Amino acid sequence: MTTIPLFPLNSGHTIPALGLGTYKMSEETAEYAVNEALHIGYRHIDTAQMYKNEAAVGRGIKKSGVAREDIFLTTKLDNPNHAPADARRTFEQSLSDLQTDYVDLFLIHWPLLTGDYVDTWKVLEEFLADGRARSIGVSNFEVHHLQALRNNTETVPAVNQIELHPYFQNIEVEQYSKDAGIRVEAWAPIARGKVAEDRIVRELAEERDCTPAQLVLAWHLANYRIVFPKASSREHLEENFAAVDVRIFKEDVDEINNLDEFEAGRSGMHPDTMKRPGE
Ligand SMILES: NC(=O)c1ccc[n+]([C@@H]2O[C@H](COP(=O)([O-])OP(=O)(O)OC[C@H]3O[C@@H](n4cnc5c(N)ncnc54)[C@H](OP(=O)(O)O)[C@@H]3O)[C@@H](O)[C@H]2O)c1
Repeated sequence: MTTIPLFPLNSGHTIPALGLGTYKMSEETAEYAVNEALHIGYRHIDTAQMYKNEAAVGRGIKKSGVAREDIFLTTKLDNPNHAPADARRTFEQSLSDLQTDYVDLFLIHWPLLTGDYVDTWKVLEEFLADGRARSIGVSNFEVHHLQALRNNTETVPAVNQIELHPYFQNIEVEQYSKDAGIRVEAWAPIARGKVAEDRIVRELAEERDCTPAQLVLAWHLANYRIVFPKASSREHLEENFAAVDVRIFKEDVDEINNLDEFEAGRSGMHPDTMKRPGE
C-alpha cells in the first residue's frame, strides 16, 4: 500500500508531502476530483479563494466520508482581500464554504506591490492564535518579502509556495526559504503537464519504469519539497499518487537539474510585478 510521507513544519504540525491541487478546476471537476482523490488515499488538498471552488472542495470532502481531522486542507487569501477587515471577513467565508471550522494552512497568495503584506501577515497571526489556522504561510514571496516579514513580525511562515519545476527551479528563493526553516511547496510541479512531452524526461522515466510526471514528482520529493499536482481524471490522480513509490537515482536528479531554463522557464507572473486588481 502506498504511504504518503509526512514532512514536519516549523509550526509543530506535519503535512503530507503529496496532495491534490485544484487551480483552474471548475466547481464540478473540483468536487469530483477531491472525492476521487480522497478515495485513492490523498489526504492533502490545496485550494484558494482565487480559484472560486472552495465550496466545491468542501462538498467533495463531505461526500468522501473521510474525517476532517484526517485531511490537510490549505486555502489562500486573495489579492483584493489584504486589508485587515477584508482578510478577517473573507477568511470566515472560506471556512464556511469549505464546511470546516479550521484550515490546516492559510497563505497570503501573492505579495502585492503596495507592500501591505506585512500588516496582512499580522492578521494571519490572529488566525493562528485563535486556532482557526493550524499553520500560516506565504506564497510567491521573494527573498526581500521574506526578509521584510522576518524584520517586522513574530511568526516565521511555515511554508513558501512558489513556482518550481524542472524548467524554472527558482534556486535562490528555495535556498533562502530552506535556510530560514520555511518549507518549500512547489506549484506547477509538473510544469502544467509539459514534462509528459519532454524527450529527456520520457527517456529517463522509461529506464525507471515509471511515467514522466512520476519521475518529476519523485525529483521534488527527493528535494523535500511539497507537491500537489492538479489532476482531473482518475487516471492522472492514481498515477501521481503512486509517484511516492518511485525510486529516483542521482543521475536522474542531475539530468533534471540540467533542464533549468531560469527566468525564461517561469510560467506565472514575477511576484515583484503583482498589482492589486484594478490598480
Ligand atoms: N500559489 C500560486 O500562485 C499557485 C499558482 C499555480 C498553481 N498553484 C497550486 O499548485 C497546483 C499545481 O499547479 P498547476 O495546476 O498549475 O500545474 P501542474 O500540477 O504542474 O499541472 C497540471 C496539469 O497537468 C496535467 N496532469 C496531471 N497529472 C498528469 C500526469 N500524470 N501526466 C500528464 N499530465 C498530467 C493536468 O491535466 P488534467 O487536469 O487533465 O488531469 C493539468 O493540465 C495548482 O492546482 C494549485 O493548487 C498555486
